[in-house]
Amino acid sequence: MVEAVTADDGGGSRMSTLKPYRVVRYYGGSNNRPAAAASFYDCDCIAGLAHFEKKIDVVVTSPPYNIGVGYNSYRDSLPREEYLAWMGRVGSAVRGALADGGSFFLNVGNRPKDQWVAWDVAQALRKHFVLQNVITWVKSIAIAKADAGDYPAVAGDMAVGHFKPVASDRFLNDCHEYIFHFTKSGDVRLDKLAIGVPYQDKSNIGRWKRAKQDRRDRGNTWFIPYETIQSRKDRPHPATFPSRLPEMCIRLHGLGNTKLVADPFCGIGSTAVAAKKLGVHFAGFEIDRGYIDTAVARLS
Ligand SMILES: C[S@@+](CC[C@H](N)C(=O)[O-])C[C@H]1O[C@@H](n2cnc3c(N)ncnc32)[C@H](O)[C@@H]1O
Repeated sequence: MVEAVTADDGGGSRMSTLKPYRVVRYYGGSNNRPAAAASFYDCDCIAGLAHFEKKIDVVVTSPPYNIGVGYNSYRDSLPREEYLAWMGRVGSAVRGALADGGSFFLNVGNRPKDQWVAWDVAQALRKHFVLQNVITWVKSIAIAKADAGDYPAVAGDMAVGHFKPVASDRFLNDCHEYIFHFTKSGDVRLDKLAIGVPYQDKSNIGRWKRAKQDRRDRGNTWFIPYETIQSRKDRPHPATFPSRLPEMCIRLHGLGNTKLVADPFCGIGSTAVAAKKLGVHFAGFEIDRGYIDTAVARLS
């Protein structure tokens, strides 16, 4: 059950000085946790994060990539140096708002003509964080039966997931992006089995000291396809990630250690959808009120 309320209500936010534009309360979540709320702030994320000193447990976000995407309000084409300097300032603001044992998951992709964007952004954050994990988000993959060998689940050659076709004989279709997992110290303990996978070969259970149950670390390649949509109006934003992506990040950090999740560039609220599903508080920053209104509608 969810309930959308206006900013005047002020509920849901743990911060009193910054008024949210919209708040959505939700109850339970899939883990039957106490009531929680998503608070959406219609402001610049650096200004907003300044109100959350060390209060946020997990940040999951995808910033503009500076590749000319047509957002409603934001112009996605700064001079490269200016863009990277801004990303550095965002990193510094996230560091100030993140709890000492928190996790910052930053999703960035490249474009065919510029394969350095993601790594340049990661580099801009280097002075603020330790890079604890690098996860490759696989949007689409082709597996040939001949390469899979005896795996019973692979019945024939297959290609799963959606990707952006590249009309060029120089560049390959773009089927993956990065999720940089930054922490303050590099030694944040994770709940790896919360997003674990079953052993393919069950004889491994018990054979290895650490393999006590039929679940293992899934590793740092995550296959998360986009949901299929019939028309643009089903996804009224030009650059979203599937809500399963932030859900996996939050679960990996550990639900037991997570009260408040934030997304500094929250768009139409994919991270908020994950927070609601998991029953944790959410704070989102977005300069475009139209996107926030869509996020609220998605949660409701
Ligand atoms: C890549 S999109 C994020 C999409 C989001 N992950 C989703 O799935 O809906 C980046 C968003 O950042 C917003 N944005 C740009 N500059 C911002 C700023 N200074 N503060 C907050 N949001 C900003 C843009 O309007 C855009 O919606």
